[in-house]
Amino acid sequence: MTRFRVAVVGTGHIAEEAHLPAFAAEAGRTELVAAVDIDAERADSFAVRHGIPAAYTDLDAMLRRERPDLVVLCSPPAAHLDAALSSLRSGAWVWLEKPPFLSLAEFDLVEAAERQGGPYASVIFQQRSGSGLRRLVRQLDSGELGRPLVAQAVTTWYRSPEYYAVPWRGRWDTEGGGTTLGHGIHQMDLLLAVLGPWAEVRAMAARLERDMDVEDVSTALVRFESGALATVVNSALSRREESYLRFDFSEASVELRHLYGYGDADWTYTPERLRAVDGAEVRSSHTALLPGLLDAMDRKERPPLSGRNGGREALELVTALYQAAFTGATVRPTDLLPDNPFYQRLHGGVPEWARC
Ligand SMILES: NC(=O)c1ccc[n+]([C@@H]2O[C@H](COP(=O)([O-])OP(=O)(O)OC[C@H]3O[C@@H](n4cnc5c(N)ncnc54)[C@H](O)[C@@H]3O)[C@@H](O)[C@H]2O)c1
Repeated sequence: MTRFRVAVVGTGHIAEEAHLPAFAAEAGRTELVAAVDIDAERADSFAVRHGIPAAYTDLDAMLRRERPDLVVLCSPPAAHLDAALSSLRSGAWVWLEKPPFLSLAEFDLVEAAERQGGPYASVIFQQRSGSGLRRLVRQLDSGELGRPLVAQAVTTWYRSPEYYAVPWRGRWDTEGGGTTLGHGIHQMDLLLAVLGPWAEVRAMAARLERDMDVEDVSTALVRFESGALATVVNSALSRREESYLRFDFSEASVELRHLYGYGDADWTYTPERLRAVDGAEVRSSHTALLPGLLDAMDRKERPPLSGRNGGREALELVTALYQAAFTGATVRPTDLLPDNPFYQRLHGGVPEWARC
């Protein structure tokens, strides 16, 4: 088994809280060799605090000197495209924070820079990693739960004016979108992980409270290829915060209530006798997601949550939601092609929304 040389780019909140524990848990297979941040003080202090031997403000210099096997992008979304392209071109695999990119156009540029057998870029949707989700998908595939009928994906979070005062937040050109892209994307991704491909989306979005360019609430109606219907609610204005998923199958209702991550106890089944309890509990987390990427690197195979294989689909649904909300149209997957302005930018150039 190879011990991979890893560089962390963007040494802020998520790098500290989620990535350091994930790499510590895989210390036998990974070695943190460099920290990169445009803020030299942050990069230095992160490297010193965590025993990382080198700190850089320049990604390309780091790539030339350190030759990492894996570059982890924890920088703001607008910085992901260039960093992912340079890293892939240098031969490094990329593990990048959600939202992966500012548009499907950016996603496709990066996918085109991947090479058969690696390097590949893989998106961090850590909520895919919990045992509760894996059991549900297996039960659904086995037919035990019947067929999917109705679902809800609710992300009712609270983000204060101070949260949006950070310069890169709340802007199309730096954050890429609002609460739909930045927060709701996790539950929307889980919806897709369970219900598979969607067929059409209708939606609304609004700026109700925060003084910013992007939306602070959105709602959508989604029809899936299976015929199942879902509602989606995304909010950055909800004082009682919750992430909630509900699936009504023909034989059972399955619900998940949590906030930023879940364990087995957060899932309820009605009737309870249909709850699967086999295997060890895995709480959803970056730490639980990382081994799958390292396994793929060992095998030189496309990793989970990359390309059309899971990495792109949540961004597709988010894009469809924005287009449906800003134009009033019903959006289908076949609409999301390069000649569609929403493929290029998530505000689609719609004047009421496109201020930067
Ligand atoms: N997976 C999750 O649940 C989750 C949770 C929170 C944040 N995130 C994502 O993680 C990313 C970072 O969020 P955060 O909360 O850690 O932000 P943050 O502001 O705390 O940290 C970002 C860091 O990146 C640095 N930076 C800015 N531009 C850079 C560039 N071009 N190159 C290198 N470094 C740069 C900043 O100086 C800062 O230190 C975002 O994409 C965000 O959406 C994911």
